[in-house]
Amino acid sequence: MLIKRPDDIAPSEITPRELFEQRRAFIKAAGALALAAGLPAEAWAREAFPNLQKSAYSTLEPPNSFRDITTYNNFVEFGFGGKSQPAERAGAMKTRPWTVSIEGLVQKPRTFAIEDVFRIAPLEERIYRLRCVEGWSMVIPWVGFPLNALLKQIEPLGSAKFVEFITHMEPATMPGLRQPFLDWPYTEGLRLDEALHPLTLIAIGLYGEELPNQNGAPLRLVVPWKYGFKSGKSIVKIRLTDKEPKTTWNLAQPEEYGFYANVNPDVDHPRWSQEKERRIGEFFKRKTLPFNGYADQVAQLYAGIDLRKYY
Ligand code: MTE
Repeated sequence: MLIKRPDDIAPSEITPRELFEQRRAFIKAAGALALAAGLPAEAWAREAFPNLQKSAYSTLEPPNSFRDITTYNNFVEFGFGGKSQPAERAGAMKTRPWTVSIEGLVQKPRTFAIEDVFRIAPLEERIYRLRCVEGWSMVIPWVGFPLNALLKQIEPLGSAKFVEFITHMEPATMPGLRQPFLDWPYTEGLRLDEALHPLTLIAIGLYGEELPNQNGAPLRLVVPWKYGFKSGKSIVKIRLTDKEPKTTWNLAQPEEYGFYANVNPDVDHPRWSQEKERRIGEFFKRKTLPFNGYADQVAQLYAGIDLRKYY
């Protein structure tokens, strides 16, 4: 992960919520116009998910702008050269056809076509905070559904204790894969109870539209109480195991990146204090909250665990 500070981003770049709503209304109107003209709605309207349910898990904090969320990214498969590289390069990644296979300690291993993944559960808009280990944060209006709905389909065996997430490798479009810094593919993992927690999301869109490639199209994980690196992008395989999976950043720098990676202002990263964070678009830093503000929902998952040891 790279250490760049978002000093160049002015607060005026934040899109207020009203603008987001106006934009949606415009997209809807454009769709109706296209239908009236006998064209497929998709030709005009980019609102891919018109019937989103609002989620009780959403934060009331204002989301960052579409521009912030889609141009300030970490996606090292597209290079280690800075936050704008994913937006510049990821457009070339092929996201159709796409399948996700779920295997390992499950009753019913299965390979899903992405179109079927999109239909697994009612889609929700979930507005979550995302806190990166590098010290910046954003608020992102995801479109998705709880990972537990997907895991229900394949019926985890009693022996399954962990879930491993393996992401896409496309050497032709991903120059980062040629760099030896990491063990590819980018792999992440959760304990099974973390994976089944209702906050753990499979995101397939943001701001009411399909995920832009740089944000992890066509599907990614979002675990809002953990540092952003746990939320693997462009997932192709999910494996249930009885052993803690090896994860990319932990393999590369174990003293810096733990398996748990819960947001914890009391445990500093060796190179960065985790006490405060800079919300992209804001000037002053704000205090980082334990579990990124989701302690009421998740702290009990770690009862009795020394979070300094299991960082
Ligand atoms: N997933 C893959 N496959 N490759 C990556 O480099 N970066 C992680 C995570 N998922 C990454 C990834 C990190 S460090 C963060 S902070 C988040 O994605 C960033 O998500 P965003 O760019 O949508 O904000």
